[in-house]
Amino acid sequence: MDIEFLTRLTDHAAIAISNAQLYGEVQRANVAKSDFVSFVAHELKNPMTSIKGYTELLAGGAVGQVNEMQANFLQTIKSNVERMSTLVSDLNDNSKIEAGRLRLEYKATNAADLVDEIIRTFTRQLEDKKQTLELVIPEKLSLMWADRTRVGQVLTNLVSNAHKYTPEGGMVQVGVAESQNQWDAEGAPRVIHLWVKDSGIGMTLEDQQKIFQKFFRSDDPKAREVPGTGLGLNITRSLVEMQGGKIWFESEYRHGTTFHFTIPVAEE
Ligand SMILES: Nc1ncnc2c1ncn2[C@@H]1O[C@H](COP(=O)(O)OP(=O)(O)OP(=O)(O)O)[C@@H](O)[C@H]1O
Ligand SMILES: [Mg+2]
Repeated sequence: MDIEFLTRLTDHAAIAISNAQLYGEVQRANVAKSDFVSFVAHELKNPMTSIKGYTELLAGGAVGQVNEMQANFLQTIKSNVERMSTLVSDLNDNSKIEAGRLRLEYKATNAADLVDEIIRTFTRQLEDKKQTLELVIPEKLSLMWADRTRVGQVLTNLVSNAHKYTPEGGMVQVGVAESQNQWDAEGAPRVIHLWVKDSGIGMTLEDQQKIFQKFFRSDDPKAREVPGTGLGLNITRSLVEMQGGKIWFESEYRHGTTFHFTIPVAEE
């Protein structure tokens, strides 16, 4: 065997070993980070629940009539606490995903019921922005094999984006369909296909390359009108892929965006 070949071989082996060590270190660091973030998230949850609870009591007039300006201020406190609470749980989910420690609980789940449940939580927000909601739900649908809460989280993130990045008076459509898996040859043969479509601000081709990156937010002034952290889609993609699905989108700048994802159908 020639010496050069042997040297190259040992070089490769050395690189492989140091990569593995590095990987081990990164994994250990991710686990430590995840433990720390979980601890902080847990500690922040109690005070946030308390702030939210007392704000709601005050706003509801539990300790005396509130005037319009006071009601406005209380609403601002409430929506900011809600933002904090979403941020904390998004950071927690993200570090769990990176450490490979997010556990999913699979069950045969009805997608139509889930869509219905999630949409309900948005009725008020959609009304406030005078956005029309269209639902496309077939009568008969196989159950999907999924973690119900996590698919709900995916839908919540996508509907929240559709609502945020669509101007007043726009349209949001949420749809479900069962179909052959035409999007992934290696995936489940049959899938539940869900989509969230909006008539909103759309994205430039440049932004479209980046939206799944952690903490990415567009510089588009229209997108910047609403608050956000840039974690939603990053987590959403991981959650879909962990459940054996795919996520993709089409977007046309200043016309609208449609996000699609699939979840495998549960075996009979
Ligand atoms: N439906 C949409 N229409 C137009 N732009 C969108 C849409 N959905 C996402 N985007 C763009 O992609 C970026 C990333 O979205 P993502 O949901 O990850 O973060 P975010 O909404 O800014 O914050 P959050 O972490 O609160 O979800 C957004 O900031 C926005 O620029
Ligand atoms: Mg978002």
